[in-house]
Amino acid sequence: MQLLKNSGLPIYLEKESNKLAFTAPLQLGSYGEKIVGQMLGLLAKEENLELSTKFYDVYRAIRYPDDEERLKRNRYQYDITYVMDGLVNGECKKTSGHYHGFNPQRTNTYPEVYEVIEGTALYVLQRAKNFESDPEGIIIEDVILTVVKAGQTIIIPPNYGHCSINIGDGPMIFSNLAYIPCPVIYDSVRYYHGMSYYVFKTDGEVKAELNQRYSNVPEPKFAVVKENERLGIKFGLPIYQSYQQNPGAFEFLGNPDAYVDEIMSMLEYKENLKDAIIG
Ligand SMILES: [Fe+2]
Repeated sequence: MQLLKNSGLPIYLEKESNKLAFTAPLQLGSYGEKIVGQMLGLLAKEENLELSTKFYDVYRAIRYPDDEERLKRNRYQYDITYVMDGLVNGECKKTSGHYHGFNPQRTNTYPEVYEVIEGTALYVLQRAKNFESDPEGIIIEDVILTVVKAGQTIIIPPNYGHCSINIGDGPMIFSNLAYIPCPVIYDSVRYYHGMSYYVFKTDGEVKAELNQRYSNVPEPKFAVVKENERLGIKFGLPIYQSYQQNPGAFEFLGNPDAYVDEIMSMLEYKENLKDAIIG
């Protein structure tokens, strides 16, 4: 049993079963698992698949009883996703990928906080406006492949669809702090069989490849992440604790309009993917 110390919570990893164990008084709302068979239609290559192989597990609504009321009032939820080790036809394991819905004013979609607890993640971020109504005519305006390492956190910027990819050598475990009323939209990603870039690993080298089903995708940018204490993001300070210490810092989750530029400025651009992985 290994303590997931970057979470700042009494959560243990049972390596043999690839399961997480939660210690009282910490509580877990629900648990769900995705197997390869449920990822069909989202993978780069779908031949010779072992359909029952585990892909990722999600542990939802994790909280201490003492924080329950405040989380409810803020309408936030803290979840953990465990993306399994290993490749599928050379492709790195990943989450399904989705867009977030717009705020009531329809000025921006909701952001979300992702904290990498174990392993190394690559987030495909793709900005599009017409992802809800018109998947066929979607216009991808920007693509940013962002590398986030254990102990680091990314705020998914408003208006960017996103998918979390395990590019490390073991499992990749991340938490998210999300605004509960935010709609989550999967259809447009499914229409294109995934996000605009697939990520493969060959002989230890990570490579991004354009998903040819999209047309007119801009050249990707590459990035790493920066801290922003005003928004509650301080590397080494677990997100759950940061929220407990200063819940007001996460106001941007439900009210993104005033924060878009600040969130974008937390990405630091690199020449290429290799440099982003080196950090
Ligand atoms: Fe999301």
